Amino acid sequence: MALYKLFFSPTGGTHRVADLLCGAWDCPKIEVDLSDPEQDLSALCFRPEDLCVVAVPSFEGRVPPVALPWLKALRGNGARTIAAAVFGNRAYDDTLVELTDLLRRQGFRCCAATAAVAQHSVLSAYGAGRPDAQDAAELAAFSSRCREAFQSPALPEVSVPGNHPYRAPGGLPGLIHPVGGQGCTACGLCVRSCPVGAIPATRPQQVDRSRCIACMRCVCVCPLHVRHANGALLAIGTLLLKKKCKERKENEFFLSESF
Ligand SMILES: Cc1cc2nc3c(=O)[nH]c(=O)nc-3n(C[C@H](O)[C@H](O)[C@H](O)COP(=O)(O)O)c2cc1C
Repeated sequence: MALYKLFFSPTGGTHRVADLLCGAWDCPKIEVDLSDPEQDLSALCFRPEDLCVVAVPSFEGRVPPVALPWLKALRGNGARTIAAAVFGNRAYDDTLVELTDLLRRQGFRCCAATAAVAQHSVLSAYGAGRPDAQDAAELAAFSSRCREAFQSPALPEVSVPGNHPYRAPGGLPGLIHPVGGQGCTACGLCVRSCPVGAIPATRPQQVDRSRCIACMRCVCVCPLHVRHANGALLAIGTLLLKKKCKERKENEFFLSESF
């Protein structure tokens, strides 16, 4: 059996959740960053005895559109899978159902799933510091339950909440496009890290707004901490979402009831 950890994680929260979900297995993990342009996703060859953890963030309550072609390049070949939608303490809406539907169409067996909270990558006041120690304990316990359950060859697939048709995406976070600030030395790290090539190599202080998906990876990787989103927009977004985001949201776990 091989354990694959497949993830799209612009600012690291989704990656941390995926790591915690793999925690109960002590075999070596094969890490697949879905956004890595060097990675030939169609060449990955899964087997029914393999285990995959597939984790994506929730963007506007859906699987980020940029991740759809990456996921569609995969061939599951019956590999048992834990699907994870990671959200920023507002709601995951239809992200998990969209992810599990897609993985099934690609031939994965979604036997377990979770919607887990991480710090909001745009509005960092929400879900701040998560996954925290409590989340880590819950995710570790779920990982152990999955390890136990996955020993059963008859483990059924899970169903998860969500709508068909999926909700239309929308929301302020997706409209906040970071730019380089004073002190930018044009080192080019943000240019190379942007998953959609939205930062011009010759003018890295700027951004192509028609391409930018507001994922905040450029802000996260900037070694000088000078790339930033518009402060006024962030303040407005934080205020507008306060009612929906201020209470701590729980992680949700899905696995057949007999386990
Ligand atoms: C464009 C965009 C849209 C988002 N939409 C939602 C959302 O609908 N609900 C939510 O709870 N969090 C939302 N978030 C927050 C992310 O889901 C959350 O911060 C996630 O952990 C980001 O993953 P990462 O840390 O791997 O980048 C959004 C973030 C971005 C960048």
